[in-house]
Amino acid sequence: MKRSLVIAAVALVVGAITVSSGNSSAESFSPYVDDKGNISIPKDFRNWQFLGSWGVATDEDNKVGSKGFHNVFTQPETLSAFRKTGKFPDGAVLVKELLKAKTESMTTGEISYATETEGWFIMIKDAEGRFKDNKLWGDGWGWALFKSDNPGKTVTEDYKTDCLTCHVPARKDDWVYLRGYPGLKK
Ligand code: HEC
Repeated sequence: MKRSLVIAAVALVVGAITVSSGNSSAESFSPYVDDKGNISIPKDFRNWQFLGSWGVATDEDNKVGSKGFHNVFTQPETLSAFRKTGKFPDGAVLVKELLKAKTESMTTGEISYATETEGWFIMIKDAEGRFKDNKLWGDGWGWALFKSDNPGKTVTEDYKTDCLTCHVPARKDDWVYLRGYPGLKK
């Protein structure tokens, strides 16, 4: 009896130490960012909260529908935090999956639907400016594009030239195109 109590106490202390050291390391900022600021694709993002889809209109003459979709996901906790505060919390992840699309006559009409994945655009909120020397980080976010033929390595070299200029119209909303995400509206 006494012995089992001691074991329980030791287990508690060890548990507490593990938890506190985990929190203080750079890795605890985000499971998708290493201590140098390298970004990786969240494997389970399709189980996250779906925010919305952008349909890319086909540019071929005499054709209708979309030639691609951009589907955007975030963590469920980011959605609830944004609804409360109107801001993206530290560690918030936005994944924009690029998909090809096909258009067919279906019983509902001319319908476009998503087919293969071409890549993933990822933004990770950094409210503290952690990675000052890393060119994937700045203006409150980490930024990276991955193509589906090499999902382990980003093709982004410098977010200022590769990403930011195109997001200027959304600057007042923390660089995010909020109009496409009905679930984020208060
Ligand atoms: C050619 C312009 C352009 C470039 C370059 C660009 N973006 Fe975007 N991005 C947009 C637009 C416009 C949207 C919303 C509409 C859409 O998807 O077409 C968007 C949406 C996003 C979204 C979904 C959240 C949001 O802001 O609405 C993410 C994530 C994203 N971009 C990340 C990036 C990253 C990371 C880079 C650089 C690697 C990048 N983008 C480069 C124009 C661009």
